[in-house]
This record gives sequence, C-alpha cells and structure tokens, in this order.
Amino acid sequence: MDAAGTTLKTALDDVSAEIDRQFDLLLPIPADPRANLYRAMRHAAIGGGKRLRPLLVSATARIFGVDRSCIARAGTAIECIHVYSLIHDDLPAMDDDDMRRGKPTVHRAFDEATAILAGDCLHALAFEILADEATHSDPFVRIDLSGELARAAGPSGMAGGQMMDLEAEKSSFDLQTVTRLQAMKTGALIACSVEMGAILGRVAPEGRTGLRGYARDVGLAFQIADDILDAEGDEALAGKKLRKDGDAGKETFLSLLGPERAKEQARLLVDQAIAHLHSYGPEADLLRDIARYTLERDR
Ligand code: IPE
Ligand code: IPE
Ligand code: MG
Ligand code: MG
Ligand code: MG
Repeated sequence: MDAAGTTLKTALDDVSAEIDRQFDLLLPIPADPRANLYRAMRHAAIGGGKRLRPLLVSATARIFGVDRSCIARAGTAIECIHVYSLIHDDLPAMDDDDMRRGKPTVHRAFDEATAILAGDCLHALAFEILADEATHSDPFVRIDLSGELARAAGPSGMAGGQMMDLEAEKSSFDLQTVTRLQAMKTGALIACSVEMGAILGRVAPEGRTGLRGYARDVGLAFQIADDILDAEGDEALAGKKLRKDGDAGKETFLSLLGPERAKEQARLLVDQAIAHLHSYGPEADLLRDIARYTLERDR
C-alpha cells in the first residue's frame, strides 16, 4: 500500500473506532420494555459500514483545526441519519433486503415495527446530539449544523431522493432526472458532511465554493460506484444483497450509460472533485484520497 493508502486506511479505522465508541456511550440498553429498541439501534449503528460521512466531516473540519470531540459528535449525528436511512431502505416496503453490513437487516434480526422505531429514534438522536452544548459552545453553530442536516435528510434531500428512487422502478427517467435523484438520495448527506466540517471550521459561506463543488462531485461518483458495485461487486465483501437494481428494472447511471461510460463518468467526477480543491495544499490530501477511494472501494 502506498503512503496515501496507509493514511486513508488509518483515517477510516480511527473514525470507525470513534463512531463505535460514541454510539456505545449514547445507547446503553435500559432495563425496561424498550430494551429491544436499543438493541436494534445498536445492531444497526455499531460495528459496520465504511463511516464515509463522518470521515468527510473530520477530513474537512481538520483542515481548519477543529476540536476532535466536536468533530466526533457532528460525525455521529450524520451517521445516525445515514443508519436510519439504511434501516428504512431495507424494509419490505422499500428494498426488502435481508442483509446489511454483513449482518441480518434490523427487521430480520428483530421485527418490522422495531426496525421502523429504531430508524425513528436514530433520526431524532441526530438532532439531540447537535442541539447539545457538548457538540459546540456556540449556539449559532449548533443551529447551522441542525438546519443543514435537516435539509439534507428531508424532502429536498435523502428522503425526497428515496421517493424518486421508488418511482425510478416504474417510470423511465432520463439522465438529468437520474442525476437529480442521485444528488438527493446519496449526494445530499455527502454534501452535508463536508458542509458540517466547514461550519465547524467557521468557514464563511462565500469561502465554501470549492468544498461544495468537491462534495457534489464526490457524492455523484459515490452513487455511480454503488450502482457499479450492485452490478459487478462481490456480495460477501459488500455485506448486502447485490444485483438488485437490474432485477427491479431501476433506471440508474449504469442502465442509462452502460458500464464503460458510467465508469468514465465517475472517473471524470473524481478528477473534477479534486480540481475543486486547488486552493488548498497538503492539508486537503485526505479529502483528495477520499475522492479516489469512492471509486476504488470494493464495498
Ligand atoms: C449505502 O451507503 C447506501 C447509499 C447511500 C449508496 P454506504 O455505501 O456508505 O454504506 P455503509 O455506511 O458503508 O454501510
Ligand atoms: C439507498 O440506496 C440510499 C439511502 C439509504 C438513502 P440503495 O438502495 O441503492 O442502497 P443500498 O444499495 O441498499 O445500500
Ligand atoms: Mg434503495
Ligand atoms: Mg437498498
Ligand atoms: Mg445500491
């Protein structure tokens, strides 16, 4: 592994350990009838996933010298939204999946009602974390973080994109519509991760253009890679059922462009993402490595 690979791997490992630690502290199992709800949240949230979104918060915020505990809490908040979105995405009413992150999905390991409630609770927990003084001493920063995350999770972001994704099984979307769908479904939370890093770093909105361009391109490249992995990946490595999009007749970048052009498009997006960081020096190298990793990953 080259030096960049080693740094990225260390960063991924460090963030994963920190996010596990945060969830462990936040979710002790109570000795009352809610115990299974907490077990379900822990099942979904601890010990799995790439933790890409918290890593993006961290890689961005650390450019600006943000305190580590603020970074860890903001990263945990966005991972809460991501994990909740996965629990609900796997439900029978949506993708009806049995495996996630190499384990049975929450509705399989527990039951559907518990899975819905575990998702609801993680959604709420995200904002509870951000509202807490421990996340940042300045209430304006906490409001800014909460507003960004709410927008990225809601109808103009992830949940809206999920709705469009369900429609994509029934209608034939053109490339422009699929791009919008993906930018909402996956791109919004990825963009929000970088934005949260910039908010923590007190970067003025007019100074965030390069970071926003980077995040938009990484988000799209990431979802193209997810679609390519769905078609060509290894289920054991991915830890989830693959070959779902084609079977569902879902319009994706892959179905519209074909594998070669989809890969070419993803490579162009990664190059473009890195080009957006031109005003930063080596302090943004981790962001550059993350952009490359979105395509090189095997899970
Ligand atoms: C999977 O996200 C769902 C999409 C938004 C494409 P990730 O690939 O980041 O899943 P984990 O967190 O690593 O499990
Ligand atoms: C899910 O997209 C995206 C969200 C959960 C917002 P997919 O349905 O493609 O994700 P996987 O492939 O199940 O991880
Ligand atoms: Mg889905
Ligand atoms: Mg799915
Ligand atoms: Mg997928």
